[in-house]
Amino acid sequence: MPSATTFQEVATGARLAERLQETRRRTLALVAGLDDDRLQRQHDALMSPLVWDLAHIAAYADLWLSRLDGAPAPLRPDVFALYDAFEQPRAVRGDLPLLDPAQARDYLDVTLLRACESAAGADLDPEAPRLQARGFVWNLLLEHEEQHRETMLQALALAPAGWITPDRSPLPERAGSAAGMAEIPGGEATIGARSGFAYDNELPVHTVELAPFRIDRGPVTVGDWRAFMGDGGYARRSLWTDEGWTWRAEHAVTRPLFWDAEGEHVRRYDRMEPLRDDEPVVHVSAHEADAFASWRGARLPTEAEWEHAASLHPTEAPVLGGTTFGPAPVGVGDGTDVRGLTGDAWEWTSSTFTGYPGFAPYPYPEYSEVFFDRGYRALRGGSWATAPCVARRTSRNWDRPERRQIFAGLRCVERS
Ligand code: AVJ
Ligand code: FE
Repeated sequence: MPSATTFQEVATGARLAERLQETRRRTLALVAGLDDDRLQRQHDALMSPLVWDLAHIAAYADLWLSRLDGAPAPLRPDVFALYDAFEQPRAVRGDLPLLDPAQARDYLDVTLLRACESAAGADLDPEAPRLQARGFVWNLLLEHEEQHRETMLQALALAPAGWITPDRSPLPERAGSAAGMAEIPGGEATIGARSGFAYDNELPVHTVELAPFRIDRGPVTVGDWRAFMGDGGYARRSLWTDEGWTWRAEHAVTRPLFWDAEGEHVRRYDRMEPLRDDEPVVHVSAHEADAFASWRGARLPTEAEWEHAASLHPTEAPVLGGTTFGPAPVGVGDGTDVRGLTGDAWEWTSSTFTGYPGFAPYPYPEYSEVFFDRGYRALRGGSWATAPCVARRTSRNWDRPERRQIFAGLRCVERS
């Protein structure tokens, strides 16, 4: 059975080039129907104009390819500052003198060519310089572009209805129910990436001691969320943290983002879709997730609990990969399997995003380190919009606890 945990390939230059091209086809397909005005407009302060993401993907490739031993100088170092995510907060990106869509597309083309050519000629041996060993930099570019495609899918979900008319691939049918919880024995758990491509925040591998716990076999569903709402979940002060209650009141939050007032339909891109009881709830903040967990008499897992459960219950890799434009129903094949850990919805954890013991930034501190211990909440898993390579068991995502634009839900744990 293919599993998210074994999703890795031996790096060859030819295969990396092929994967870079496949990823690029998906990126360009997503924006193919958008005119220049829609590509350049910043419709939400939380999200970049899409043309920023496009040229940023190119500039990121241009920068990192130029750092390889013997590489030619970058093509457009003059635009690096414009596309530096750290220098340019999202809210201001619409006001920058950005490359126009045609220029951004050209920049994508020429940097993809460089990436493919350099991959084909590079020594990928584990003993080669670190940036190229096992194809590191090309995997970095791949995962980076895939992550930005998910970001663009978030931006498009927030855009006025009908900006894109997705060509949806069918949702997989999943039999059975994922109700109930699975027992996870306590003891020593190994956390972090043992092989394959990993970001610096997944390293070093280390062990933690865990008490036994129970974890939901599937992500919290829309049906569960309707029960929470029906029981006054958004109105009961005692279920919420102080911070969560303040946030809820300030923004008058009464239901997940994109739900209609009746809780019957959800807006997904160009259309309103009936909400299914058996689909995972998404577009809830960590505050809402916390309140739901306390309504259940449970709590959110820590990252370590989540990762440990995922390593004991490796399930098949997510195959949605951003093409369904919505989550698939939750389901299980059989028995005590814990399902959907990777790929149905990002799952909020109770952990603040921080470095593992002995953390060392690589290749640059602005990827992870600058977000450590600054109130970002860690998420695990991956959503319908996440590429399989990104939804690795050890992958870590993070956002502010109040954010709802990500395709994030939750599952609960309790002490056994
Ligand atoms: C891991 C999704 C939080 O979008 O800020 C993209 C990924 N980092 N380019 C982000 C990322 C640099 C990152 N997240
Ligand atoms: Fe980026």
